[in-house]
Amino acid sequence: MVKSDRSRETKRRISPELPDDPVIPVLSKLSEEIDTPLYIVGGYIRDHLLGKSVKDIDVMAAGDGIAVAKAFAKKVHANNVIVYQKFGTAMVTLPDRNIEFVGARKEKYHERSRKPSVQPATVTEDLSRRDFTINAMAVAMHSSEYGVLLDPFRGRVDLKKRVIRTPLDPDETFDDDPLRMMRAVRFAARLHFTIHRETLQGIKNNKERISIVSQERITDELLKIIQAEKPSAGFILLKETGLLEIVFPEVDALAGVDQRYEHHHKDVFYHTLQVLDNISEQADDVYLRIAALLHDIAKPKTKAYHPQHGWTFHGHEELGARMVKHIFKRFKLPLDHVPYVEKLVRLHLRPMALVDDQVTDSAIRRLLFEAGEEIDDLMKLCRADITSKNPRKVKQYVNNYNRLVKRMEEIEAKDRLRHWQPPIRGDEIMERFNIPPSKLVGLLKKAVEDAILDGKIPNEYEAALEYLYKVKDDIIREYNERNFNKS
Ligand code: CTP
Repeated sequence: MVKSDRSRETKRRISPELPDDPVIPVLSKLSEEIDTPLYIVGGYIRDHLLGKSVKDIDVMAAGDGIAVAKAFAKKVHANNVIVYQKFGTAMVTLPDRNIEFVGARKEKYHERSRKPSVQPATVTEDLSRRDFTINAMAVAMHSSEYGVLLDPFRGRVDLKKRVIRTPLDPDETFDDDPLRMMRAVRFAARLHFTIHRETLQGIKNNKERISIVSQERITDELLKIIQAEKPSAGFILLKETGLLEIVFPEVDALAGVDQRYEHHHKDVFYHTLQVLDNISEQADDVYLRIAALLHDIAKPKTKAYHPQHGWTFHGHEELGARMVKHIFKRFKLPLDHVPYVEKLVRLHLRPMALVDDQVTDSAIRRLLFEAGEEIDDLMKLCRADITSKNPRKVKQYVNNYNRLVKRMEEIEAKDRLRHWQPPIRGDEIMERFNIPPSKLVGLLKKAVEDAILDGKIPNEYEAALEYLYKVKDDIIREYNERNFNKS
């Protein structure tokens, strides 16, 4: 049911003026030609009123959306119209943007169903069935009312107040499409808005319904939250509403502090969010942000209490790295990014252990070798991981990392470990020593690698070859003895 206090038809000309967008006059002309009222609706209007320019346009037709899409495509000589017959929508793809057409309609998800059913509706009804008041505004394209803003739920006021609010009773709006609960959090996080009290309560009441939504849609919203300027705002809302426990239980489990006697540990959830915000200040890359979100993910599983030492989380970096693939699979994220995130989670404590001046070059070389191309991102993560409230400590940690990076640069300049290519390839080893492909080739290569990492020889072909001739007999003998004993 449309709420009476907010549903008064508010029509006035949009100001600031519509953007100078070549698609707008085309839509306006088309509206007249086919004698069908057309409206630009949703995100395009919202973002325009927020002073942002957007490319993709959603067009609502008081008629058949698919037919209008085809007429539009013909008019602009676009041959790409993607029709979603079942949903009554169609998308025209132009070289740099998508224009989506939909007939005014209401759609609803039914109990336990993942696919919505769609029925025709009036324009105001359509707006009432949208997610939030700020997305339920439309601007008329037909010459008879060109430029008039339809804002029956006072989305414009909510934009000014920076509030996310459902046009209808939240129970109804979220029942129509439970993904909207995640969208509310995403819009709040990305636009720095608050969620209206009743809408927030609605999310809490309906959170269980999120489980009928497909994982792809949930993941999409989560990624958008992670890509916010300050992603913590979104995760705090997910936690507060109870959605986090359902959509990302591993992150939810980070929350809470245990106190035993005089020992307590810091709340890993808030620490993680701080790290995520810190990294987001320096990096847009979503997978680096995901690595920050997951860096301590195994702390709850590895937590142990020792009367003398207090709380420990031994091995959380290794176990955490092993959890990454499982999480990526569940979220249907591309698995080719798993090794990167695994590496950062696995290595995130290593630089801290190397800041001491007494640490050998060899230990630093080994980290450079293991981190490879990812060394800069690893150091970004380590710096983001400094969340102490004590400025003296922060300064000390930052200085430590600065010194370490300097040492790394010196070693890298000499040994070029970042883009590691073994100085002697397996093929050459087989040819020179006349050995077939076998584990022995790997052992000989590893001996050269270790010698370089231990600083015994430089990362150069001649030195590597000389070293190999020196050690090969011992390695081959040992290998043969071991194989002989086995058989
Ligand atoms: N919409 C909705 N419920 C949803 C998804 C979308 O009511 N679950 C409506 C909103 O009016 C929204 C419009 O459809 O503005 C277009 O949806 P979409 O393109 O997903 O979102 P935008 O608002 O354009 O914003 P963004 O592109 O940032 O997702």
